[in-house]
Amino acid sequence: MRAVIFGASGLLGRSVLRAFDGMTVTGTGFSRSADGLVTVDATSADDIERLLGRDQPDVVVNCVGERRPDVWASTPAQARGRNVDAARLIAEGASRCGARLLHISSDYVFDGKAAPYRPDSVPNPLNTYGRWKLLAEQAVRAACPDAAILRLPVLYGPVQFAAETNLTEIARQVGAGARVELDDVCVRYPTHADDAAEVCRRFAGALLRGQRLGSVAHWSAEQGFTKYRTALLIARRFDLPAGHIRAGEADAVSGERPVDCRLDCQDLPAALGPVRRRLFSSEFPPVVEPWLTPTRPVSN
Ligand SMILES: NC(=O)c1ccc[n+]([C@@H]2O[C@H](COP(=O)([O-])OP(=O)(O)OC[C@H]3O[C@@H](n4cnc5c(N)ncnc54)[C@H](OP(=O)(O)O)[C@@H]3O)[C@@H](O)[C@H]2O)c1
Repeated sequence: MRAVIFGASGLLGRSVLRAFDGMTVTGTGFSRSADGLVTVDATSADDIERLLGRDQPDVVVNCVGERRPDVWASTPAQARGRNVDAARLIAEGASRCGARLLHISSDYVFDGKAAPYRPDSVPNPLNTYGRWKLLAEQAVRAACPDAAILRLPVLYGPVQFAAETNLTEIARQVGAGARVELDDVCVRYPTHADDAAEVCRRFAGALLRGQRLGSVAHWSAEQGFTKYRTALLIARRFDLPAGHIRAGEADAVSGERPVDCRLDCQDLPAALGPVRRRLFSSEFPPVVEPWLTPTRPVSN
């Protein structure tokens, strides 16, 4: 199997690249194109065409996206390009070269008012990011009708810097000791990037075997955590003071974040076999340990 992973320098893409080890695989990066990755601007049809024309992959996985709220606010056109235009262009490229496409989307396409959500539940995004992810799904379907879309919840895994994920940033706030209020209403289901990547690997194999999976699938871990409970988990696990962390409801009150987007995932294990679902409560602390104090050595 020949594969191209777009966005292989990111949190999920790095895990997907590892999961595809042993296959003939090309990973792309953009600003972080080190370690053998090919630099591709996924908002450039020419860049995509050049790579796919050269590699002629059987399967393409699109992990490109922009999920940093500060970037949505400061450069919305660029952020939209990375979430929507890139999805369309990659889908058009995959379609032209006859590759099967697995496109990564988000639980934020839902409004969080009627969990659990099935793959055929009606999306109703509350914020700009969710609307972009939904537009991307629609563009992918139009450009590549046999594409598969995998929706995932918030991810965690080994990070390259503390702010790379919101969850590691919460842990850093616990260690920093400064007063902070964290939302205790909106529940998320943090999922290990390696588990999501294993789903991608099996999904890609199933697509190539012609297995019928449906055009949209969901994958998620099972434990629900608010930001506040995530902070308490870290404080307890490392015996750190937690008095500076207050429970709030800012995210819920803003109306911009869904309260509960739990994804109904029962279809995938039935189709792909049992997939590991790491427990956030035991797997997250080791991931964030290097970031709790600034003097600890950095690991990746
Ligand atoms: N992380 C989550 O919690 C989460 C949850 C649900 C869904 N998702 C979705 O999963 C996908 C992967 O997310 P992630 O967390 O791995 O994101 P990430 O860590 O921010 O990585 C984003 C990837 O997109 C690449 N990229 C950005 N702009 C690009 C451009 N113009 N051309 C080519 N590549 C570009 C980045 O390359 P460089 O870094 O090299 O610039 C990086 O490889 C995204 O679609 C995201 O929306 C993520």
